[in-house]
Amino acid sequence: MNISIIGTGYLGLTTGAVLAASGHTVYCVDINPEVIEKVKAGIPHFYEPGLEELVKEQVLNTKRLIPTLDYTEAIPNSDISFICVDTPSDEDGNLSTRAAEAASKTIAKNMNDEHIIVMKSTVPVGTEIKIKNLIKETTSTNFYYASNPEFLSEGASVIMTFLPDHLVIGSDNDEIFNKIYSLFEQVDEYARENVDLSLNTINETYRSKFDFKKPFKERVVRTSIPSAELIKVTANSFLAMKISFANAIARVADKTGANVNEVMTGIGADPRIGRDFLYAGLGWGGGCFPKDVKGLIKNAKDVGFDFNLLKEVENINEEQVEYVSEKAQKIFNKETKNKTVSVLGLSFKPGTNDIRVSPSIRLVRELSNYFHTVKVFDPKANNEAKEELNELDNIVYAQSVKEVSEKSDLIILATDWPEFITLDLSTIKNLVNSPNILDARNRWNQNKIESLGFNYSGIGV
Ligand code: UGA
Repeated sequence: MNISIIGTGYLGLTTGAVLAASGHTVYCVDINPEVIEKVKAGIPHFYEPGLEELVKEQVLNTKRLIPTLDYTEAIPNSDISFICVDTPSDEDGNLSTRAAEAASKTIAKNMNDEHIIVMKSTVPVGTEIKIKNLIKETTSTNFYYASNPEFLSEGASVIMTFLPDHLVIGSDNDEIFNKIYSLFEQVDEYARENVDLSLNTINETYRSKFDFKKPFKERVVRTSIPSAELIKVTANSFLAMKISFANAIARVADKTGANVNEVMTGIGADPRIGRDFLYAGLGWGGGCFPKDVKGLIKNAKDVGFDFNLLKEVENINEEQVEYVSEKAQKIFNKETKNKTVSVLGLSFKPGTNDIRVSPSIRLVRELSNYFHTVKVFDPKANNEAKEELNELDNIVYAQSVKEVSEKSDLIILATDWPEFITLDLSTIKNLVNSPNILDARNRWNQNKIESLGFNYSGIGV
């Protein structure tokens, strides 16, 4: 099949590269010339494990992945277009469909034959009607519309696109549903035979959890288009709620001598609850949860439902960074004006250089108000953080764990990169000024750390 992907970001580029790897010709369209220039050279404009080698292979070798700024090249040569553009929060909290509308209009202008348009971007429920009307106003060419939200997680995007654990296809037309189904079935067949061999940096955690025995057809959920639209924001809001729930229990645990990790393992043992996304810490962030939770609150309000539950999920998350900052200050009885704090990790989660709504960045800002110096280090996101925090004059950017720890009064684990979790803390004990550790992700072993002579505190442990 010939495919156009509109929007060459995390979602679009990963989807495009995976579809190209499984044998299709894919035009990756974007309006940003810098992005297209980079991708033409085989280089993604963001870090995602395993993606660079895949993009290189598909752009430069097989030449099945064609980056372009030109809709007139892509659309008339394609049977199907996937819209993968950003839907950021607009002023009133709704997910903005401005870019998706513009993309649809341009597709409509350029299709000269029957065309399938599939919305992959996260959009408010009801977007289908808006987009269909817009296309009808623009062209008389026949088209079909479907919704196929994505559930990939940054840091594991490549493997999750090759082998999604579930796939939602919203379609009111059997023929179109079957076409989309077959496209992804081919990806699944290709991935099962090749993916382990061709990629060596795919996410191990996801691969180890993926049920290879579950046939493709059992992983596909067919729904109506509005349901598919609503599934996406509901999933993200529910996961954010789980995390905020764990963080609320962590506060109760801190006051009562209970341990939130034990509590979550205890409730997670109940298969109706599950252990995933119940890790208390610094809270949730990133390019998706914050805007999707806000979007669902607004979407619900517009149809007459005040989603107070989700507002509280947001509040708990907002407070969590301040809660951790307070904990850090209390270690010094709030006398922090001459102290140096070191923050490990700046990206919103490990495996990415994405700092959008990163709780770690919010923590650095907060700490910089109270501490003399905030030293920071991230394996991938130092440059991005430097740009974001450029107005603060007491931040020191270190190039290694060793450097960030030197002369520190407190080390805080903010983003749980594997290299931090497996760090041999005995090697930094004699570099620090005072041996204090605040494990804001509850990932280090308290007993081991205390046996090295550090003072340990965590979140609800
Ligand atoms: C999220 C969803 O998990 C994906 O299913 C979805 O497709 C994606 O958004 C999207 O809408 O595109 P992502 O934003 O990549 O994926 O990140 P997550 O792995 O979900 O983590 C989100 C945040 O929650 C991070 O800040 C992470 O540190 C935090 N988190 C996660 C916790 O604090 N505790 C947990 O137990 C799990």
